[in-house]
Amino acid sequence: MVFIANFKMMLTTPMAVKLVNDNLADYKALATDSTIIICPPATALRDLQKISNQSSIQLGAQTCGPATTGAYTGDISPADLAACGATYCLVGHSERRNLYFENDVQVAAKAALLATLHITPVVCIGETLVDREAGNTLAILERQLTPVLSALNGLEEHVPVLIAYEPVWAIGSGLVPTPENLSTIFSALSEFMAKKVPTMTYKLLYGGSVSSKTVISLAQVKHLHGLLIGGASLDFQEFKKIVDYFHCPASN
Ligand code: PGA
Repeated sequence: MVFIANFKMMLTTPMAVKLVNDNLADYKALATDSTIIICPPATALRDLQKISNQSSIQLGAQTCGPATTGAYTGDISPADLAACGATYCLVGHSERRNLYFENDVQVAAKAALLATLHITPVVCIGETLVDREAGNTLAILERQLTPVLSALNGLEEHVPVLIAYEPVWAIGSGLVPTPENLSTIFSALSEFMAKKVPTMTYKLLYGGSVSSKTVISLAQVKHLHGLLIGGASLDFQEFKKIVDYFHCPASN
C-alpha cells in the first residue's frame, strides 16, 4: 500500500520539518512495510532530502512547473524538485484545477514531463457533486485520464503511475463514498486502464477525507492500492492510525 501525506499549504517549512523530525523513527517504521510519501511545501524538500536519502521515506511535490527550465515566474521546475529529493509529484489536484484553472491537457503534459525525469506522477482525478448527481462520474474520470494516458504512452518504462481518485466533494468535507460505490468505480477504472493501456504499470489510490474513522470503510474497497491523505496527515498519530489499520485492522 502507498500512503501519501499531502501537507498542502498548511505548514510553514519549519513546521513541516519539525513534524517529520519529531516523528522520524515512527515514519521510518511505517516505511518498512508500506510506501510512505511525504509531500511537504516545496521549500521544505531540501531540508528533508537527507532524511529521505537515509531511509525509505519518499518525498513528493504537490505540483510542478510546465517545463524543466524557462521564463515561468513563480513556478518550480520538476528538474529542481528532483534535485531537492522529490521522487513523486502530484498533478491535477482538484485545488490546482479549480483555483489555478489547470486543464486536462496541462495535467497530461506535466505527467509526461515528470515521467521523463523519472519522477512518478500522482495523477489526481475526481468529479464534482454536480457531476456525480448527474450520473457523469465515470465519463468525467475517463475524460480526465484519456489525455494523461496518451501523453504517457511510450514512457511506461520510465516510472509507474499512481492514479488518485479524489471526488471533489469528498476533499476536506468529512464525507467519503461508500465502499460499494468506490469498488464499482475502481473496477470500472481498472477495466478502462486494461483497455486503453494494457502494458502500463499503475496503482489506484483514493483521497478525500481519509481519517482514522473513514479508513474502516475504505479498507473494504477492492482494487485499492493506497491513500492520499490531506488534513489527517498533519497529525502524525492520526496518519499512523490510518497506515496501521491496513496492517492490523483487528487491533484498531
Ligand atoms: P483531505 O484532502 O484528506 O483533507 O480531504 C485530501 C487531498 O486533497 O489530497
